[in-house]
Amino acid sequence: MGRYTFQVGTCSLPTSLAVINCSQLVTLSGPARPRVGPELRELSIILNGGILAAGGRITHVGSRETIEALIDADCEVIDAGGRIVLPGFVDAHTHPVFAGTRVNEFEERASGVTYQEIAARGGGIQSTVRATRDATLDQLVAAGKRYADWFLRTGTTTVEAKSGYGLTLEDELKILKAIQQLNSETSLNYVPTFLGAHDVPPEYRSRREAYLSLLIEEMLPRVAKEKLAEYCDVFCEAKVFTIVESKKILVAARENGLGLRMHADQLSLSGGALLAAELGTTTADHLEHTDDAGIAALKTAGVQPVLLPGSVYALGSTRYPMAREMIEAGLAVVLATDFNPGSSPTPSMTMVLSLASTHMKMTPAESITASTINAAYTLNRGKSIGSLEPGKAADFVIHDCEDYRELAYFFGVEHPWKVFAAGNEVSTRY
Ligand code: NIG
Ligand code: FE
Repeated sequence: MGRYTFQVGTCSLPTSLAVINCSQLVTLSGPARPRVGPELRELSIILNGGILAAGGRITHVGSRETIEALIDADCEVIDAGGRIVLPGFVDAHTHPVFAGTRVNEFEERASGVTYQEIAARGGGIQSTVRATRDATLDQLVAAGKRYADWFLRTGTTTVEAKSGYGLTLEDELKILKAIQQLNSETSLNYVPTFLGAHDVPPEYRSRREAYLSLLIEEMLPRVAKEKLAEYCDVFCEAKVFTIVESKKILVAARENGLGLRMHADQLSLSGGALLAAELGTTTADHLEHTDDAGIAALKTAGVQPVLLPGSVYALGSTRYPMAREMIEAGLAVVLATDFNPGSSPTPSMTMVLSLASTHMKMTPAESITASTINAAYTLNRGKSIGSLEPGKAADFVIHDCEDYRELAYFFGVEHPWKVFAAGNEVSTRY
């Protein structure tokens, strides 16, 4: 038993809630749009600040004195003890519903076998697909709750959540329903994405066209009709879904009213960023192999890059995406975990902040903007989460640090002391 224990759960909502004595209240208040260029470094910090919330929403932010003057008898007051307060992280790329783990493959990769070699022999995504098809909805929800706790206690209050380990109509619906259930039964907020185009399942390998038809003619209309997803994603990669196939799927998704995201240029430069720009997707994710032409195209089209250094690290690669060039080009960069059982088994946004500073030369301030307000805009929630401003959800975290830069600097540490979602204390470290 360590020094700390955690409790993750939902407490009853106080009439109002005040947090005072925050060494730095990192508000990220600013223009109501994704931040670019030098704006990424502007965190709008209130020193010795406080925050007041009621009915699950922020009503005031300001100096400690301003907030103390507003406290009434019904208000629950939390003394942050000189700690920092930030918005809850918004993790805009995760795969959080799957059965089993891939610890065996992890051990093999530790002995030198590559991720691509494992995938080529039917392991990788396919091994998680087999386990997930065999699992019931209840089993997926139970596994998902364990990960929801991890997200909350590491300071994340909203995740984008992809399906993609079912690859049949029935199994993809099962995963999306698990996401819906997790959204209502946990304190974590989920934004669902349909990723039926995560891989071509083995039974369709010799007739890819038939899987494309299934995706376009059956799965997408059903997902849209049942309102089980807000976005559609495609794993666009020479050996997975080609540019031509990805385009067909994404065009159909748009016709079904879904927003568009893409796994692009992760393992090779396959034209994914250019396709994202051509279609004007909301995001292009990964981009480890994207070149200057891809960056320029994303800028012209206003596509937000979602960078996932956790997967680069966990695959033992050193090919991180060109974050500096993207920032210099004026892209509204986002950072996310890519939490999944294969290439990125971490829910920790602060681990991602560390990797971004160490390997992608993003400053701690840039990384925080990329993982809060900029991420919120990619989920069509820029007006409701991602910064601490009156009217927004009271999703915030008291981290056990005095200076926000410690979040990226001390790595491998769970910094949150208390996590709040919609004004409820949902995780506490004792
Ligand atoms: O984002 N690139 C494809 N999908 C995941 C990996 C999923 C897995 O290995 O299970 C990713 O890295
Ligand atoms: Fe991914």
